[in-house]
Amino acid sequence: MSSAITAGTIGKAALATVVGLAAYYNDRAIFDENRKGITYQPGLPLVGNLPLLIQYKDQIHELFLEAYHRYEALTITFSVLGVPRQILTLDPQNVEYVLKNNFENYIKGPEFHGAMNDLFGNGIFNANGDEWKYQRKTASHIFNVKNFRDQFTDVFVEEIHYMIDNIWDKAVETQTPVDFHEIMFKFTLDSFILLGFGVHLNALGTKGSVPFAESFDEAQRTTFQRFITPIWPVTEFLSRLAQPFKTGMNGHLKVVDDFARQVTEQRREQLKNGEVHKDLLSRFMNASNANGEPLNNDELRDIVLNFVIAGRDTTAQALSWTFYMLMSHPRVEAKLLEEINANVTEDIMADSGSLFEAIKDMKYAHAVFYEVLRHYPSVPLNQKFALQDDVLPDGTPIRKGDYVLWCPYAQGRVEKIWGPDAKQFKPERWINENGDLKRESQGKWPAFHGGPRTCLGQHLATLEALVAIIFLVRKYKFTLVPGQDITYQVSLTLPMKNGMKVMVEKR
Ligand code: HEM
Repeated sequence: MSSAITAGTIGKAALATVVGLAAYYNDRAIFDENRKGITYQPGLPLVGNLPLLIQYKDQIHELFLEAYHRYEALTITFSVLGVPRQILTLDPQNVEYVLKNNFENYIKGPEFHGAMNDLFGNGIFNANGDEWKYQRKTASHIFNVKNFRDQFTDVFVEEIHYMIDNIWDKAVETQTPVDFHEIMFKFTLDSFILLGFGVHLNALGTKGSVPFAESFDEAQRTTFQRFITPIWPVTEFLSRLAQPFKTGMNGHLKVVDDFARQVTEQRREQLKNGEVHKDLLSRFMNASNANGEPLNNDELRDIVLNFVIAGRDTTAQALSWTFYMLMSHPRVEAKLLEEINANVTEDIMADSGSLFEAIKDMKYAHAVFYEVLRHYPSVPLNQKFALQDDVLPDGTPIRKGDYVLWCPYAQGRVEKIWGPDAKQFKPERWINENGDLKRESQGKWPAFHGGPRTCLGQHLATLEALVAIIFLVRKYKFTLVPGQDITYQVSLTLPMKNGMKVMVEKR
């Protein structure tokens, strides 16, 4: 009798506590403070915006855009159970400040590092301080004009010729649809593995998907989900139990690990045989790490995988979205073709040095590429962790331990930033009254990031994309296979969820 009373009393007390907590934390996650001076998106008692995050998990960038429209505020905070405080800003001056002006205060934070660690280890995307500095310095040596003119352009042209002969010309002949997105991923993978690591992978010659690429994509998707699933160690464990025969994160990690280790093993063999290489891999194999020691196999594995995501995914996606926009905007396609025909002849296409020079003058082609990245930035959402209390330029108070998020995808669609025609695809906005290309500030257009960690490969990516655009637009007319849902897949970057089927004919 007395134990029944005790149990009943404890039950009532627990219920009263929960009700009390729910009344106090009535619009936010338990133990989260209200943050004065920042517009906030109210959530449910005790869990805050967790249900909203789950609801939007497949279109997360829309969530941020809608929040901006709902509150007409460029800076908003979300309270989410289990996730550190997040402050989202679309305000260009804030973004520039975090990336550049107060760079020292904003790092890749512990939760970021934890979620990314399995796949990216201590590679450049996941590193801070000295660990980051030595990688940036080592890699930067390959991005010089001589390499661009004499080597990189050659590699891109060689791979494009392979793609033309083996994929596009055949598709013209047989009139069969081709997944353009898949081909671009193979093209950038082959090109980057060749110029960065000296390996001929020939993904373009492989039917269907390449096992390394498939596992790499899956591992990235899982990595991103970890950012929006605070209890990811539990959910991943349960998913392993529920589907024991499905390849899980560990299985995919093994495939990508094996690939990266093979690349370095092969190079060690080549060096033993007296071969001389001057590519990205050899730079790192001859470099010293943050402790002044030669890099071990784990460090080299991290380097290889970080550079594959940098060199493959971003550019393949940018190219896919470019052709999607060209197919759906014939006016822009016609104007681009006009510029290509005016600047590039068969002779120029046959000589990489001349092609490299011709591309420099092609303003409209650059403008098209920048405008695509405004609509479809390859890194659509990003975040940094505040080391100390701070105040952003718009007056938003930041506390030590906050994550500041910015969303280039949403930024590119906001009228307050880009004017009333923000949603239009208009490459002309990148050309000034004198007909010169104009670049926007890194805060307004952070497609290539900003400040000391600005994308190292932006010129390489632009060159690769423009070489591909020139060859493909000049030679072929692509059309979208009707009835497709062309949309993004939520991941660390911005792949197309269902690919993009096209039909192709010769011009
Ligand atoms: C359209 C293509 C590309 C876009 C839009 C792009 C964009 C970006 C962005 C937004 C970042 C910052 C990521 C972060 O730290 O959170 C970044 C970093 C980086 N990118 Fe790119 N990228 C592209 C292509 C490339 C290519 C082809 C390379 C070739 C090596 C490359 C190399 C890097 C490296 C090494 C970093 C890390 C820089 C650092 O932390 O110091 N990127 N890129």
